[in-house]
Amino acid sequence: MKPTRYCITLFLCISSISVPLLVSSQACQRTCGKIPLKYPFGSGPGCGDARFQKYITCNDQKLTFTTHTGCYPVTNIDYSNQVMYVTDASMSTCACTQPSKGFGLDWDGPFSFHDDDVFTLLDCSINSSPIYKSNNNAYDTNTSAVPLCDKKGASICSFLYSCRAISMLNLPISTCCVYTPVDLGPSFEMDLQKLQCSSYSAFYSFDGQDYNPENWKYGIALKYKFNVYNDYPGPCANCEKSNGACGYSAVAYNSFICNCPSGINTTTDCYFEAAFNNALPRQTGTCLNSFCIFDYFFPWFVLLMLLTFMDQFDLAVTWSVYPLASILALFLFLL
Ligand SMILES: *[C@@H]1O[C@H](CO)[C@@H](O)[C@H](O)[C@H]1NC(C)=O
Ligand SMILES: *[C@@H]1O[C@H](CO)[C@@H](O)[C@H](O)[C@H]1NC(C)=O
Repeated sequence: MKPTRYCITLFLCISSISVPLLVSSQACQRTCGKIPLKYPFGSGPGCGDARFQKYITCNDQKLTFTTHTGCYPVTNIDYSNQVMYVTDASMSTCACTQPSKGFGLDWDGPFSFHDDDVFTLLDCSINSSPIYKSNNNAYDTNTSAVPLCDKKGASICSFLYSCRAISMLNLPISTCCVYTPVDLGPSFEMDLQKLQCSSYSAFYSFDGQDYNPENWKYGIALKYKFNVYNDYPGPCANCEKSNGACGYSAVAYNSFICNCPSGINTTTDCYFEAAFNNALPRQTGTCLNSFCIFDYFFPWFVLLMLLTFMDQFDLAVTWSVYPLASILALFLFLL
C-alpha cells in the first residue's frame, strides 16, 4: 500500500469507529418531541436552569408543566419573546365544555401570566359566587358591590356562550365572568370551587377573529425570566451554538456546565467536538437510524459508481473495502 492510501485507510477506520462514539447519548436532550429545548428549559435533572427543573419535565417525548393544581402539556415555547404556552385538558373551549377545578401557578415558580391571557369563568353561581358579591380587596374600603368581572368582557362571554357546546347548557349570560388582565390574587390561583363556577376557558389570542370563538387560541401563555436582570447567561449562548445543552452541575451547586453531543460536559462549549465532527465525511449528529447510516455511506456509493463508470474497476473494488469495514466496525461497536 502506498503511504497516502495507508493514511486514508487509517483515518477512515478511526472515523468509522468514532461515529458510534459521537452518537453516544447526550444526557440533556435538545428537543422534547417537537419542542426544541433551550436554556432555561431542560429535559431532566442537571439540564437547563435548576429553578425550572421542578416545573418542567420531558417524559416519553412530552414536555409537561407541573404546578400544585395539576400537569399541563407544553404546546410551544417562544424563546425570543420568553413565553411558554400550555394547555389544560380540563378547561373548556368552544368545542367542549367540562367541569374543572381551575388553574394556578406556584407562587415561588419562575412563571407569571402573560398580558394576553384572558380567563373566562363559566357557569358561576350568581347567588353564592364571591365574584358577584364585592371586591374583597384590602386596598379598597368601598364596600358596595363591585363585581370582579371585566365589563368589557361581556362580548367575549356572549361569543363563548354562542358556541354549540356551551349553548346547549342553556346558561344565562350573567353566569359568565371575564378576568383580564389575569390577576388571580396573592395565591396565584383560580380555585373554581371557591369561586363557585363549574368551569373556565382560557385563551391568549383571538387570532384576528374576535367574532369567531372556534378559532381563538385556547391555552395559557406564561412569561418567564432568566433571572432578576433577565439576561441570558453568556457561556450558555456559545454552548448552544456549538450544539451543546446548557445545564448545571449537581456537584458544585448550580455551576454552569455545557453538555456536549458526545455526552462530555465542559465548562465552556462544544466547539472542540464540532470541529472533530466536521472532519468526518458527513456530519452525523446524534441520530442512529438507517437514514443516518445511509447518509454516511452515500458519498462512498457515489464515488464507487463514479470509479466503476470510469472503468477503474479494480480501484472501485479497493475503495469499496472502506465502507464495508466501516459497517463492520459500527456493528462490532454496537454489539
Ligand atoms: C453531564 O451533565 C449531565 C447533566 O448535569 C449529567 O446528567 C451527566 O451525568 C454528566 N455527564 C458526565 C459524563 O459527567
Ligand atoms: C363606592 O363606590 C361607588 C361607585 O364606584 C361610589 O359612588 C361611592 O361614592 C363609593 N363609596 C365610598 C364610601 O367610597
